[in-house]
Amino acid sequence: MSRPLTATIDLKALRHNYLLAKRLHGGRVLAIVKANAYGHGAVRCARALAEIADGFGVAAIEEAIQLREAGITLPILLLEGWFEAQELAQIQHYQLWTALHSAWQVDEIEAAEINAPLTVWVKIDSGMHRLGLHPDEFPAVAQRLSACPKIAKLVAMTHFARADELDSQATPQQIDRFQQAVAGLGLETSLSNSGGILAWPKAHGDWGRAGVMLYGGAATDRVLTNWPKPVMQLDSRIMAVRELAAGEPIGYGARFHTERPTRVGVVACGYADGYPRVVPAGTPVLVNGQRSRIIGRVSMDMLTVDLSDCPGAGVGSAVRLWGEGLPASEVAAAAGTIDYEIFCNLKRARLNYLD
Ligand SMILES: Cc1ncc(COP(=O)(O)O)c(C=O)c1O
Repeated sequence: MSRPLTATIDLKALRHNYLLAKRLHGGRVLAIVKANAYGHGAVRCARALAEIADGFGVAAIEEAIQLREAGITLPILLLEGWFEAQELAQIQHYQLWTALHSAWQVDEIEAAEINAPLTVWVKIDSGMHRLGLHPDEFPAVAQRLSACPKIAKLVAMTHFARADELDSQATPQQIDRFQQAVAGLGLETSLSNSGGILAWPKAHGDWGRAGVMLYGGAATDRVLTNWPKPVMQLDSRIMAVRELAAGEPIGYGARFHTERPTRVGVVACGYADGYPRVVPAGTPVLVNGQRSRIIGRVSMDMLTVDLSDCPGAGVGSAVRLWGEGLPASEVAAAAGTIDYEIFCNLKRARLNYLD
């Protein structure tokens, strides 16, 4: 048997989650497939969504070109716009949509040598303070851009810093600032990422931008009634078993000593696969569907789990690292991060797509 680490990607669940986003948000929703669809495979995911999606969002032109070359003809928005003026010709050539987030881009688009006008999503900084025009300067810039012959259509967009935090007032404040900036301009709007789509109905504009919820990620800090399904199951197997007496060290640095006589299972998955090395002892895994725990340090290709309470488990037994029954967000929390990062870090596992 070859190395058993497999990420199974359930494309039906992906489609289900997209339709959930669309139903909750109303209007149109971009499927965000940047960063290789958060580690799920951009081309496969985009193809799986092509019949139902209104368009896609990516971070950079290379990601957009990859989708176009794979035959994706739906709108593709460059969420961060262009980095160098020469990309504008490619944006036109590949019929992409682009964000515009800074004054220097206003000058560049006015000066661009393009003959087919572009669809431009102008980003307003309503409080995240990362990208976007100041809300007070937006109406004048929108007017200037509306007069620019290089632009066919403008959409006003913003991005939330804390849409996942259901008790925070930051999102309503961002919504207010955005609404004031666009008032009376008659532009289409886009405010919501996954958190906005799931939890903030007032943030539903003409276009949603669904990212992590497509992949079944934890888009808010509480599980809600309408909750996406997990899309990725990361599964491996036990490749060796040993019995240790109490007080024995396990793994690099002897960071863990057995507290009792312990059956230890060695699992084919490590930090070179993207499993976080920093997780402490006690981080959950499922062995034959039953909850167990990591003991000892995660190494490059392997990790060790406690089989003492899984008497039926042995060499070849199934181990789920995350997926149905064990949300990636739980593993992420143990590592002090979020499931977005856990998904994006996945590498080397065999990818198996279920259509
Ligand atoms: C501009 C923009 N919109 C939408 C998204 C999707 O966010 P989420 O994955 O939280 O749905 C992102 C992701 O970071 C983004 O940068």
